[in-house]
Amino acid sequence: MDFQASSWLQSMHTMFCVSFFSFAILFSFFSLLIYLLRVKPWCSCKNCQAYVTSSWSKDFDNLCDWYTHLLRKSPTGTIHIHVLGNTITANPENVEYILKTRFDNYPKGKQFSVLLGDLLGQGIFAVDGESWKFQRKMASLELGSFSIRSYALDLVTSEIQCRLIPLLSSFAGNNMVLDLQDTFLRFSFDNICKFSFGLDPGCLKLSYPISNFAVAFDTASNLLAERARAVLPIIWKFKRMLNLGSEKKLKEAIKIVRALAEEMIQQRRKMGFTNKNDLLSRFMGSINDDKYLLDIVVSFLLAGRDTVASGLTSFFSLLSRNPQVELAIREEADQIMKPNQDIASFEELRDMHYLNASVYESLRLYPPVQFDSKFCQQDDVLPDGTFVRKGTRVTYHPYAMGRMDSIWGSDCLEFKPERWLKHGKFVPQNPYKYPVFQAGLRVCLGKELALMEMKSVALALVRRFNIRVSDPNQDPLSAPGLTASFRGGLPVVVHERSV
Ligand code: HEM
Repeated sequence: MDFQASSWLQSMHTMFCVSFFSFAILFSFFSLLIYLLRVKPWCSCKNCQAYVTSSWSKDFDNLCDWYTHLLRKSPTGTIHIHVLGNTITANPENVEYILKTRFDNYPKGKQFSVLLGDLLGQGIFAVDGESWKFQRKMASLELGSFSIRSYALDLVTSEIQCRLIPLLSSFAGNNMVLDLQDTFLRFSFDNICKFSFGLDPGCLKLSYPISNFAVAFDTASNLLAERARAVLPIIWKFKRMLNLGSEKKLKEAIKIVRALAEEMIQQRRKMGFTNKNDLLSRFMGSINDDKYLLDIVVSFLLAGRDTVASGLTSFFSLLSRNPQVELAIREEADQIMKPNQDIASFEELRDMHYLNASVYESLRLYPPVQFDSKFCQQDDVLPDGTFVRKGTRVTYHPYAMGRMDSIWGSDCLEFKPERWLKHGKFVPQNPYKYPVFQAGLRVCLGKELALMEMKSVALALVRRFNIRVSDPNQDPLSAPGLTASFRGGLPVVVHERSV
């Protein structure tokens, strides 16, 4: 190449770089301007100042408890954090309005897919409209079928009998401390991988190290939650553009998750999928696009892993502090199951009203998804009179709702399964008072599976072991993340029961 041509190329390259950066700066400037018009990051009201300076943390262990305190004091059950452009509500009428009545005005929105799209792509959690309808229809056909439910029960049974019980037995009686949270994360990760991909990562095998996949999944989930808490999203967007700090770490974690999920899809393609029961095989029957399949499957992993583990961890934490509930679960099970039977059938589970009530009650106090946000499309007014500006976030808060006197009465902080029973039979509550599985048009598709999994584990362990938190004086502290978890896990001591 002669000198003239090479200097021409060089100046083109410089021009391209300059235009690219000018465009990026202009684009960021306009996004910031639009953001500032909708949100008030300079707001100096008491709540916003407490948020920005984190002064709330002097009195509360975590953000959810602080929001709960504010929501309990609010006459409407709704508050604003202006610096986040976030209207937070614990008012059941507002929740019904957002999730059902004006569903179209409160989608996940572009903002949500900007937040989580790097991990979830076009998966069901991140999209609205036709793509969501298509995935929801397919997934509900699959998840609602009897064959997949019994396939799921077989998987859960095998994981409980072959791994969970032997693991707990190996800890029983020697006063060794077991982290129950970590155990349930491994348990539900094995289950959801078998269920989604038909492949077994074997995380719960005795002394097996947790897989790269699971570690990367945790990192991605925590860093994505950090994005959602940012007062100035422009900062993480810049960091992402320049691949710096937490965004660099996030990118690496997402790369690992997606690469491993992709490998699993390839492996399943080679194995063939026509006679298989797992979700991936079922989706592969109607979707050819591997990227789309990957997005769908990653959403299911996120949906099914941390939520179930979180629900089980808090259930056992509550049980350890409420032995009268444990006793009542055993008494009910003894009436329905045989003495050495570990796993209940669907029919037996259905007849255990007290067990069902205990699981619902535990999820009320410790919902795995503590809050969930939508983005308002057009200016609107909620049933309690709250004005919501177009483009801002609206959050319903199951954690706070479980702790409102106005919804559950003055004993709302107590763990009382009896509140769900009438003449010994389980009576469900209005789902907009209890949106633990969301409610309305986007209600959780895995609810029945999750309840079956939680009840099966609860029964098998409660009947065989006495499980007690190792330090009863230490209340568990919640850790930030997309799904609720305890800081430092849940250390327990296990004893085999002599029946
Ligand atoms: C205790 C366990 C669980 C809880 C508390 C729970 C809760 C929720 C919540 C709050 C949502 C709405 C989230 C959002 O829109 O951002 C949701 C959606 C969803 N869940 Fe669950 N979930 C649980 C277990 C599961 C399991 C085991 C599966 C799958 C096997 C599952 C599949 C889904 C799917 C596919 C959606 C998306 C529904 C849609 O957007 O139309 N969930 N779940």
